[in-house]
Amino acid sequence: MNFVESIFSSTKILFVKEKIIDESFRISLFTTKKLSPHILFLVDPAVSMAVELAEEISRRTGSVVFTGIRQNPDVDLINRIVENYRNENPDIIWGIGGGSTMDTAKAVALMLDNEGDFEEFLHGAKSFKKRTRILIATPTTAGTGAEVTRFGVYTDRNGRKISLASSFLQPDYAVLIPSLTYTLPPAITAATAFDALTHALEVLWNRNSDPVTDELAIGVAAEITGIMERAFDSSLSGSIDGRDEMLCAATKAGIAFNLTGTAAIHALSFPLSEEWHLPHGAACAFFIEDVWKLNAGNPEVKRKLDRVASITGHKNSEELLEKILKVRSRMNLPSTFNEAGIEAEKEDLFEIFLKTLDDFKMKNNIVEVTPQVIGEIVTAKV
Ligand SMILES: [Fe+2]
Repeated sequence: MNFVESIFSSTKILFVKEKIIDESFRISLFTTKKLSPHILFLVDPAVSMAVELAEEISRRTGSVVFTGIRQNPDVDLINRIVENYRNENPDIIWGIGGGSTMDTAKAVALMLDNEGDFEEFLHGAKSFKKRTRILIATPTTAGTGAEVTRFGVYTDRNGRKISLASSFLQPDYAVLIPSLTYTLPPAITAATAFDALTHALEVLWNRNSDPVTDELAIGVAAEITGIMERAFDSSLSGSIDGRDEMLCAATKAGIAFNLTGTAAIHALSFPLSEEWHLPHGAACAFFIEDVWKLNAGNPEVKRKLDRVASITGHKNSEELLEKILKVRSRMNLPSTFNEAGIEAEKEDLFEIFLKTLDDFKMKNNIVEVTPQVIGEIVTAKV
């Protein structure tokens, strides 16, 4: 991180390259100034090195580890964790895992200080008043950027995914431990890389972008385009080439979209995950060419995309998009409803995706997305 990048985020970014347990333990002491801080670890059970790390620090500090994390955290899971651990009164909430784990940690940290049903906060019936506990996030995937953002995504009792934005959700510390990403399997490496890429792109075609966020996002989009295939190859061969760089790039993309929000790709991606449980990154990759082409119709966006293309050694943004689509297909990510295993009538699909027009993320998109555009996108993918 250079100075310009670090001032974008109020999350302090710390790297742990070696001796991950010792260094992480020191970070836990440093954040609270207590010799034995009481930590509630929320850890993705699928990442054994993360579980070991949390258990070792817990042994030294008498802290607690929760590993019952689920993908797409829902209201009842958050309420249950808060109920179970309220009496522990932790000083630190430390989420170690992918986006779902970090989002769970963010909500739990907040709800420990705010009485009520999380569903009420999710729908705006109640507002958050404070967060007194230290929130630390450690990603085990290289994609969501949740470790540096003020956003969280939660499923309500109707099964709808809701994006929550609050400065209280922004972690105090992002502790990056690249070695936790070294064993990510190919499918997750692919999906999360596309999530990170689309975060950078959605800054470029965002109504909230400005010259500063653009500079950061152009650089990061170029960086990710250059690294993602190497990281994917490493997931196939068991090497670690490109992993550290991919983690840093995903965090930087998070810093960029934390300032602007996301846009049409993310709005369109939500029904794919809600209705057919497509992983978030795969759902973003699904719409990349449609939303890219739509926004490249705006001359300002086209100029930005051409700059990404030029940095990455491509003739223009059309050639760059072609390359990205080849990478998507090499990574076995679906590009049509059929490839995604989705069987539905075109009219029904249209109705489902039409609802995304009310999503605030869609309103961030610099080129207006109309019902006609939705119809064209759905038709192109049937
Ligand atoms: Fe995303």
